[in-house]
Amino acid sequence: MLLDREGDSWRAGFRAARRRLANALREGAVVGPPATVACAAAAILGPRSMTVLDAGARWGVGTPWYLWFITQLEPRARLAPGPGRARNRSRMGARTRADSPKETAVFSGPARAERYDREGNQGFYGRGAMHLLEGAPSLAGSGLDLGCGTGISTEVLVALAPGVGWQGADSAQAMLEVAKRKPGLAGVALHHAQAEALPFGDHSFDVVVANFAWHWFAERAGAEVRRVLRPGGWLLASVPLRRFSRAAGNRALARVLLSCRRAYLRLRSQGLRFEEVASVVPGPVRVARHELVIERERFADGRELFDVLDSRGALAAIFGDHAPTRVETESPVEFEWPFAVVHVQV
Ligand SMILES: C[S@@+](CC[C@H](N)C(=O)[O-])C[C@H]1O[C@@H](n2cnc3c(N)ncnc32)[C@H](O)[C@@H]1O
Repeated sequence: MLLDREGDSWRAGFRAARRRLANALREGAVVGPPATVACAAAAILGPRSMTVLDAGARWGVGTPWYLWFITQLEPRARLAPGPGRARNRSRMGARTRADSPKETAVFSGPARAERYDREGNQGFYGRGAMHLLEGAPSLAGSGLDLGCGTGISTEVLVALAPGVGWQGADSAQAMLEVAKRKPGLAGVALHHAQAEALPFGDHSFDVVVANFAWHWFAERAGAEVRRVLRPGGWLLASVPLRRFSRAAGNRALARVLLSCRRAYLRLRSQGLRFEEVASVVPGPVRVARHELVIERERFADGRELFDVLDSRGALAAIFGDHAPTRVETESPVEFEWPFAVVHVQV
């Protein structure tokens, strides 16, 4: 029996079912009989299924089988799909973690950059940067805000860690143009550069910060950061996670994700797994902090949620070319941003 509720066999059965589903999805199988059986099991478990879901969130957070459950159990989360889903499937599937990045279109162009730099986002990313500095080692010397964008995080770094000579780097020129206009960043050198090919010599920095940016980088950014850091230097990063949340806004997005689950498995920009974040820099490191943080926000309705997600590049990050054109959900709507904070010494 797939889910025997008696003793250990219940857990073993559930683990086996989960493994089978995860494997099938990894191989690109369309969700079919296994998920149906799993959903029937959830129905048998009744209210207890939410406990199972919570356990699932801890074991295999964000995996598509889990999202599938949600559609069965949360029928009120309505789907508002965007156009072009089928048309773009192959392009989407072609982008993998090892791919070399292009300038991220979602942050390019003056209008996009201005929209990103809105007040609400300044608060959100500013808080992210503050979380990053909590419990940080005493910082001095030279520092790089990698993926500095419009300089929201850089301004926090300059204000809260003034003993460091900060510089910024970002692959989007339009974002840097906004940063350059900020009086608080007048003395900060801002570089147009890719995280995967940094224009700095070996051992140039004592600290590299990446606030909500690492999920956009390709894997070799880790080696670049190790190269430009002095031995004993620090990487402080806040990285969005692939993690399921039961908040209404997150559930609405989870439903849309079901339609592009194969791409979901491949897109790094969707966020990393909590465990992965501690090892983004290759080679021996000392991990001094590795913590889950959840930022909660409340929006008037789906339209406001969509607007905020879009301005932060979050829709492009999660869905790539499959982004919905609106998000329908209850009003007001809660949204959660789970991210990992790491302090890594090389
Ligand atoms: C969500 S924003 C965060 C910006 C800033 N750290 C903040 O706290 O507001 C992510 C930034 O990473 C930049 N980015 C994306 N891919 C990059 C890459 N490969 N190299 C450098 N920057 C990149 C984007 O252009 C964008 O400005």
